[in-house]
Amino acid sequence: MAGALTRTKSIDKLIAESAAEGESGKGLKRTLGPGALVALGIGAIIGAGLFVRTAAAIAERAGPSVTVAFIVAGIGCAFAGLCYAEFASMIPIAGSAYTYSYVTMGELVAWIIGWDLVLEYAVGAATVAIAWSEYFNKVLGFFGMAVPYQWYHSPFETSTAGVHGIMNIPAIFILLVLSLLLVRGTQESAWVNNLIVITKVAIVIMVIVFGWHFISPANHTPYIPATTSYTTPEGVTHPFGGVMGVLGAAGVVFFAFIGFDAVSTAAQEAKNPKRDMPIGILGSLVICTVLYVLFSHVLSGLAPVEFFRTQGKEASVTAAIAAFMPGYSWLANFVTVAILAGFSSVILVMLLGQSRVFYSMSRDGLVPAVFSDVHPRFRTPWKSNLLFSLLTAIFGGFIPGDIVGEMTSIGTLFAFILVCIGVWIMRVQRPDLPRAFRTPAVPVVSTLGTIVCGAMIYGLGWTNWLRLIVWLVIGLVIYFGYGRAHSRLADFAAAGEPVAAD
Ligand code: ALA
Repeated sequence: MAGALTRTKSIDKLIAESAAEGESGKGLKRTLGPGALVALGIGAIIGAGLFVRTAAAIAERAGPSVTVAFIVAGIGCAFAGLCYAEFASMIPIAGSAYTYSYVTMGELVAWIIGWDLVLEYAVGAATVAIAWSEYFNKVLGFFGMAVPYQWYHSPFETSTAGVHGIMNIPAIFILLVLSLLLVRGTQESAWVNNLIVITKVAIVIMVIVFGWHFISPANHTPYIPATTSYTTPEGVTHPFGGVMGVLGAAGVVFFAFIGFDAVSTAAQEAKNPKRDMPIGILGSLVICTVLYVLFSHVLSGLAPVEFFRTQGKEASVTAAIAAFMPGYSWLANFVTVAILAGFSSVILVMLLGQSRVFYSMSRDGLVPAVFSDVHPRFRTPWKSNLLFSLLTAIFGGFIPGDIVGEMTSIGTLFAFILVCIGVWIMRVQRPDLPRAFRTPAVPVVSTLGTIVCGAMIYGLGWTNWLRLIVWLVIGLVIYFGYGRAHSRLADFAAAGEPVAAD
């Protein structure tokens, strides 16, 4: 049995399979160049993490030291990003961390990662859809309309006036619409994405430049608050301020960086993956880190912590501009409208990443064949897109944003750690393989990536550790109930074919 769990895919076979598929015209289309990949990255990166989770980190974890948290999270992502880039340039196959771990650490770890990536992509898409819903309601406000509280909140939330949420209809709506767009095809989706990316970067820069003059030094004092604790409306208590506050906040705002790795899931659709994947991943990461540190410095300087805990809790950036930047209501309105498009591009890339990971897992037999059924005309895994639109709608419609957001962060951090370790293993096992991009200073970078991401997991606290464990246990039940028996590697092994690279 141990043999089955640790069987690895042959990397040479993988690359050959992908090439044959591309030539036969049956596989995914190769349409994305380096510019499109950086845009895909930024499209996935800037979103709810910056425009919603930053305020949550200020309110619940770290106050103004959220900027330090962004730096910690950025450093962790840089280490992991370097490891992702080597993998993406070496194994240009759809599937990202899942595929990487299949060739390095074996089927069981690969399954765990693939299952864990559902937290990153599907639950992440739901988180951003919840944020979309907050800003959407602000847009309705321009026209004197509003979705009633109960129809844009989960059943676990209650308003200050005592109204209980029922379901988040706008979140469900946007998830369904974007899933249908994906069914139509990646090329069209990437085109829409490019337009949105420009707008999104523009609003971030505008908030930084115009907001800088409204920073009140009192809001930045003390920059790292003394350690106390904070109890969330859902009743979870965790440290506020001090080192643990910063680490917890780093785990929360880490969400804002998620996405650069989604670029790697598009490797099978990149024109020249060996050269372009590292450019896409690292380029988008560097640009976003600089913007985030500046943006969070401005946001935490505009309003006191109490504001983000109370009236500035929803659509927080717009709320802070409207309340603390007199004369800039046009900016608040512009941000509100533009970010709706910005969030949409994030959701799109996350849904894309999700369907691509399950596409690979399905091709390997670990999940049912329906997930790799490619549409005859659109050449997209359309059934998978539709099935995930339902799953994400359940998360987006019925669970609070804080909870799905932190589940996304912890799931992704866990995946990053395995990628950091995987690069190192691969260097030892297959030093011969050509690598268009080599992660510098392995194993130092792998080790530091593991430590920094591990510290953020630690900072997220026991409720999130528990959620991750429960999620992984459900995954193991599915693997032992289905995946292990249906694995294509198991078939090869039974037929006496070699399954592992050596
Ligand atoms: N990084 C993406 C966001 O912040 C997931 O929305």
